[in-house]
This record gives sequence, structure tokens and C-alpha cells, in this order.
Amino acid sequence: MTDATIERGAPDPGGLGGRRSFPQDFLFGVATAAYQIEGAAHEDGRTDSIWDVFSRIPGAVVDGDDGEVACDHYHRFRDDVALMADLGLQTYRFSTSWARVRPDGGATNPLGLDFYSRLVDELLDHGIKPWLTLYHWDLPQALELDGGWTNRDTALRFAEYALDVHDRLGDRVSAWTTLNEPWCSSFLGYTGGEHAPGRQEPAAGLAAAHHLLLGHGLVVEELRARDSSLQLGITLNLSVVDPVDATDPADVDAARRIDGQFNRVFLDPIFRGEYPADVLGDVERYGLEAHIRAGDLATISSPIDSLGVNYYHGDYVSGHPPASAVTTAAPSARPKRSPFPAAEGVFWHPQGLPETAMGWAIQPEGLTRLLRRVHDEYTRGEVRLYVTENGAAFADVVAPDGSVHDTGRVAFLREHLDAILDAIDGGVAIGGYFYWSLMDNFEWAWGYDKRFGLVRVDYDTQRRSLKDSALAYRGIIIDRAL
Ligand code: NOJ
Repeated sequence: MTDATIERGAPDPGGLGGRRSFPQDFLFGVATAAYQIEGAAHEDGRTDSIWDVFSRIPGAVVDGDDGEVACDHYHRFRDDVALMADLGLQTYRFSTSWARVRPDGGATNPLGLDFYSRLVDELLDHGIKPWLTLYHWDLPQALELDGGWTNRDTALRFAEYALDVHDRLGDRVSAWTTLNEPWCSSFLGYTGGEHAPGRQEPAAGLAAAHHLLLGHGLVVEELRARDSSLQLGITLNLSVVDPVDATDPADVDAARRIDGQFNRVFLDPIFRGEYPADVLGDVERYGLEAHIRAGDLATISSPIDSLGVNYYHGDYVSGHPPASAVTTAAPSARPKRSPFPAAEGVFWHPQGLPETAMGWAIQPEGLTRLLRRVHDEYTRGEVRLYVTENGAAFADVVAPDGSVHDTGRVAFLREHLDAILDAIDGGVAIGGYFYWSLMDNFEWAWGYDKRFGLVRVDYDTQRRSLKDSALAYRGIIIDRAL
């Protein structure tokens, strides 16, 4: 797709009375991930992933929650797909569990693949396009015992697993995402330690980041060689990073460092075939370069068709502590230590914006700016952009009649879709939007405490019920307009 073929979001197409419509080929979807919804954690041959093991560590997850049962989607997927169809969803982004497909990272488990085959058939029967992510953080524990993503071999094992999934589903799935948010897998998992496997070593986080990228590139090469018609991509959690005072060199440098270690450390190798020189300088003492072998960057920068952007909030940083409530913790994290390998002297300041239950600032205009920036500097209309996650946790209240009037989430959804239309009007091709998440689920280190769903899950009964936000989204999808 080139810029010339971008459809503009017309301000009042077809006389919708001042409403803004979405391009005809814009896809409306929702996203989930295997460990967060499936449950059946040890059924049909699945073995421990790093999240099963991490969840057993006292204090690692709020209330000691785990994904053993989660939303029991493994047994209820037909009902869940029916719900998706009822909402009018066009596409569904889900992940496959490596520990189900290749328990312990070893031999292929046909029973594990059977589940995803049934799921894909069910989606297609309902006219919903499957959007498959191969890695959403649940590495088989057996591979972690061999070093996990700090071990180069894990990238090769990842490619084997990807080929298994493709062998079974390649005839029916065209949209393939290699990794979800490698920043979290590497830096929250191996540097900050608040995510599985819970290691707290800056050098390990950087090694993991490189090997995750290598795994991404290997899978792109392999799948491309098998079938050139596949839509191949990666999903990154990107941020719009602003200095508190754009005239203060310390603040500008803080923003440069966080942008480097959040955004550019992934975007540059993927789109330019090189790590950013300033980031290499910032992290020099941690030995990232020792892991980079000849040919790695060519593999990592193998051409892709789509880039998924996950956007929740921006980062507002300074080289000076805020007047009150000093924090050096990124707002998305409860780190035992900073997940950024080299962010000494960087301080996050409050933006004075309303926040979600995660404490994340609600900043829809940041999404417009972020999409514009990624388009201008990296994808340039040649790689299609999708917003593969965006959503909000709120302390939902269930009314006596069972309804959930989640007005905050309805507003969040509308404001962010509006921000996407702003980007489209500015000439950025955006292929679709996936709300996070279809339903309340296991929110990693927060357990079931944080609810992001359009659909409420009563974890005692596994009953699903539509929140007002689900009804609002259904209306937007029907009208294809805001
Ligand atoms: C990003 C992750 O991909 C997803 O798993 C998580 O639940 C949401 N953000 C919300 O934190």
C-alpha cells in the first residue's frame, strides 16, 4: 500500500450528520492472549510456561493469581466466538501457546494444535478473520531453564515452533504476528523482573531483546519462503515520549534515552537494519554488541508487511525529580528495579491528565502523534500500520440488574478511535484497530485485579456479560463511524 491509495476518513461521508467515518477496508477487532484467557494450563499435553512458574512465586502476582483457569476459554471458545460475532467484530487477534504446541519446547503436540485449528475454523465459520500472534510472553519453562531468551538457541527453537503452527494453520490463517511487545518480554522479564521469568539483570534484558528480534527475523524469513502471500508482521508497544521542558537539555536527554530504549531499540533494527548508535552508547557496559553476529541484522530487518502498534499512554520525562512524589518508575510498571537498562537520573512526571485504574494517563492525542511519527520515520506507507492493542482498565461496578455502565471505557474507546481518524486524515494509512481486550482476563502481575474487557467475566461462574463499552463498540462497527 502506498500513500496514494490511502482512503481518507471523510468528515461527513454519506451525510452522517457531522460524524466521522472509517475507511472501507478498516478492520475492527479485539485482542487477547493465550495465557491470559485460555486456562486448561495442564490439559492435553500442555506443560509449564514461564508464567505458570512465575505465578507460583509468592508475591509475584497480586493475590497469588495465576492462569490455571483464567477465562476457561479453552473450553468455552465456541461461546466466545459467538460473542465476537454478536459484536460484529471483523477480526480477532489471539496468540498460540508455545507450551501447548511444543510442550517443554520439544516435540510437537498434535492435541495442542487441534485446539487452535478448532478455534480458527470457528472464527472463519462466523466470518471473523483470525490474526495470529506466535509469542505473547509464555515461553516454555524448559527453555527458560536453558537460559530463556538470553540464550541464542531460543530464537532457533522459536522458528521451529512457528513452522509447526504454520504447518497446521497456514491454509486458513493469513495474518501472522511474530512477537507481541518484545520490550516487555525482554526488559520487564529480564531487567525489571516484574514479569516472568523475573530476572533482574540489565545485561540479560538486552541479550533477550536481541534474541527476540532474531527469532522474529528467522520466522519472517521461514514463513516468507513457504508462502509469499502471507501478511507478516510484529507488534511493538511504542510510546510517545515528551520532555517536561523541551528547552532543558537534561529533560531532552531523558526523553532521548527513554525513546531509545522503548521505541528505537526495536524500530531501528527492524526497519533500518541497525541498532541506534546513541542507545548502543547508553548501554555499552552491558555487552549487547557481543550477542550480535554477522547476518543477524539482515535477518532482523527482513521486510515485513504490517507493523502492529500497541498504545496505552505516553511517557513524560525529565532529568529532574518532580516537586512532589518523586518516582523513577515508568507508569506502566511496578518494578523492583527500572526495566530500562540505562535510565539513571530519568524521572517520570505526572501529566495532570485523567488516569485509568492502571495509573496510566489517558492521552489520545499521543496516539495520533505516535502513528504519524512511525509512518514518517519508519513505515512510510510501505508497511501497513495497525493499532493491535489499546484499551483501559477501570474499577467497573456491576449494577443490580447486572449491567456495567463503564462510561470511562466508552469515552476512552471513542477518543482513541477519533485519534486514529486524525492520523488517517493526516495521510497515515491505518488498517485497523483491536481493542484490548475482548473480555476481562489475567492481567499479568496484576492478576484478575484489573479489568480491561468489553465483556465482563464473573470468575466464580465464568458468566460473560456485555458492558456498555461492548454495546458502544458494536454501534461504531455497525455504523463504521464515530
Ligand atoms: C499489553 C499486553 O500485550 C497485554 O497482554 C496486556 O494485558 C495489556 N497490554 C494491558 O496491560
